[in-house]
Parts: sequence; C-alpha cells; structure tokens
Amino acid sequence: MKAKHDVIPPFEQRNNELVVGGLTTTQIKQMLGSTPFYAYDRKLLSDKVTQLKSALPESISLHYAVKANPYPPLVNFMKPLVDGFDVASKKEMLLAIQSGMPPEEISFAGPGKTEDDISASIIAGITLHAESATEISRATKLGKSLGIKPNIAIRVNPAFELKASGMKMAGGAKPFGIDQELLPDIIGQMDFDSVKFRGFHIFAGSQNLNIDAIIEMHQKTFALAEELVAMTPVNIDYVNIGGGLGIPYFPGEKRIQLEEISDNLAQLIARHKGLAGIELIMELGRYFVGEAGVYICEVVDIKESRGTQYAVCDGGLHHHLSNSGNFGQVIRKNYPVAVANKLEVEEEHLTKTNVVGPLCTPLDIIADKMMLPTIEIGDLIAVFQSGAYGASASPQNFLSQPELKEILL
Ligand SMILES: Cc1ncc(COP(=O)(O)O)c(C=O)c1O
Repeated sequence: MKAKHDVIPPFEQRNNELVVGGLTTTQIKQMLGSTPFYAYDRKLLSDKVTQLKSALPESISLHYAVKANPYPPLVNFMKPLVDGFDVASKKEMLLAIQSGMPPEEISFAGPGKTEDDISASIIAGITLHAESATEISRATKLGKSLGIKPNIAIRVNPAFELKASGMKMAGGAKPFGIDQELLPDIIGQMDFDSVKFRGFHIFAGSQNLNIDAIIEMHQKTFALAEELVAMTPVNIDYVNIGGGLGIPYFPGEKRIQLEEISDNLAQLIARHKGLAGIELIMELGRYFVGEAGVYICEVVDIKESRGTQYAVCDGGLHHHLSNSGNFGQVIRKNYPVAVANKLEVEEEHLTKTNVVGPLCTPLDIIADKMMLPTIEIGDLIAVFQSGAYGASASPQNFLSQPELKEILL
C-alpha cells in the first residue's frame, strides 16, 4: 500500500514529484533560484470556482475575500472568475481596483476604518460595509465634503452564530458589524438622501465543514435579511449572505458536499419573496484559494537529539504561521505534509519524522511525528492546503530570515 494523505488536493505528479502548473517543484525552485516559496496552481483555482458556481443556484453571485490571499497575480487571476471582491483594507482595495474589477462589485468590510480609508473608498466608488454607527455618520459627512454620494451597506452582527465554526464572527458581543437589535433605530435615523444605500452584509463565521450548521446559518440569514429589507425605506441592491464554507486540513476532515447546501439555498430563494429582485452574494476566501496553494521549503540539515530525528528546513513558522499551529488553533495538528520529490512511497518505508524550521523557537514546527519517507538533505518539503492565510498571515520579518517567494503557475 502506498502512503496516502486523505486531504491532499488534486495536484499533478511527475516521476513521483509534485507538479504545480506544469512544473515540478524542483523546476520551480530552479526557476526562482531558491526555496522557500508558495506556488499557486491556476487550474485548481479556476476549477474550484467553476465547481462551486455550477453547484449553487444560478442567482447566487460569488465574491472573493482578498484577505485570504492578496498576492497580486492571484487577485488578478481571480478577477474574471468571480463576480466581485471583498477587501479588508485600503491597500487591498487599491489592489482590487487595479485588477479591473468594477468598483460597484467591490466591498470594504472590517472594523476601524479611518477617515482616509473612507474617503479613498468614496472616491473609488466602492461600497463601504459600515461596521458601526460612527462609520455611517463619518461616511455620510465625508461624502458631503467630497461631493460624492457614498455607497454604503450595513454589516450586521446577527444574534446567531455559525455553529461548529473554525472562526465565529457573529452572535454575542463582537467588534464586527452592528448588532441586529440596534438596526431598527439606526436605519430609522439614516440620511438616505445623502448616501446610496446598497444593502446588508451578514457574515456569521468561517472555516466550517458541517453541512447542518451551514444550512441552519443560511435559514437564519435569509429570515433576518427579509426582516431588514422590510424595515428599510429604500430599495436595496444586494444582501451578502456571508460565506463560511471551509476546507479540510486535518486527518478525518472531509470536503464539503454541496448538494444539500445548494438545495436548501434554492428553497430559501423560492420561499423568501421579500428578497425577490435583490442580488444574493456569497463571500469566500479560503474555499477558493486554500487548496490551490502549496508551501515548499528545503531540508538543510538532519540531526538527532536523544533518539529523536529532526529534519531542519530553510522555511517554517515565519512564512506559514497557521501550519505551525499558532494562528488560532487550540491544539496543534499537522497540516497535510509530504516530501515533494518522494510523493508516494510504500507504507513500510515511512518513518515517524519531525520536520522543523530554522527559527530558534520550539514553536517552529512543520510536521510533528508524521509518517514520511526517509528524508535526506536537499529534499523538498511540501505543505498542502496552504493557498489561504499563508504568506500574508505570517510574521515574515521574524528573525530576519531570507525573503519568501510566491509564484502563480
Ligand atoms: C467579513 C469576512 N469575509 C470573508 C472572510 C473570509 O473567510 P474565509 O477565508 O474563511 O472564507 C472573513 C474571514 O474572517 C471575514 O471576516
């Protein structure tokens, strides 16, 4: 029997070596000049978006949450595949605009927007997802002084949460969005003549693999959206129903089956007549890009310490914080890791291995006691499921290690 990782995405292989975008990892290393690097596979990216599009009801629009991976070539590649972008900062907004995405399809969510963020968004013509009453009045005032009506939607902090979620972004006290119970007053006081009011953004959580929890969230989201639409005195363009679809990272986790989610959405669309004619947007980051990226580093040393063998690599936590277990995980688990140039090996040739990075901290773990082929200096280590929250979510300057590279192939 060959060694199989249950959640490795469908990358190609050549001579037992991992292939990204037609090149082996060794070729990519030669082309870039060195490791470590992230490589993103165009075909896996576009396949993922196409598959989701064809699985969901046709009327649902898909937006990419740029925060998951803001690598500019990747953002540009995503532009024609999706219907819009969600950005979380002015820098991401500038990136989104330069991709050619029409401003009316770009939304800017996230608490703590400064006057500079808001003015830039108004000038650019994108939609601000207001996270507080202060942001609404700030945008209204700045719009008047700029002589441009600001596009505003309200990000709602619903009373419900996305159960069994990797990251809960709603329900209870949260810095995100405006509490649902405050909205009758806030909507009642809004100066609708001075803004272009576009709609509502109801984002309850992310990284969820539980179909029942997602279905329940959609039911509650549609019901809340219909209530909000009924209390709004102007016609709105859209309701962003959030995202939440996760990807498998750890042993035992499985890819989400979309049929039930999609059937439920179709029923909700048919049932909630109050939302007729309003665009419904689903906003996803990691679901689109997470499986299309792999992190590659090279083994530079192999050493033994009191009976335990360590393969020491030229990359680690500073490039891939989430793989080290320090990006929100309570208990560290191994990402799917493989030796990129020894992808499939007979099971009897696997040994329990510790793969670590070069940083002087016990936190710098790449694979902990994982069954891997015998590792030699010069081997390339691949960390799969690394296309989202990788390079941009890691402390790259920590210990001033050599620069990380990224490539879209
Ligand atoms: C408002 C908003 N949109 C989108 C996302 C992206 O989530 P994911 O990458 O898990 O799809 C997040 C994640 O925190 C978010 O807060």
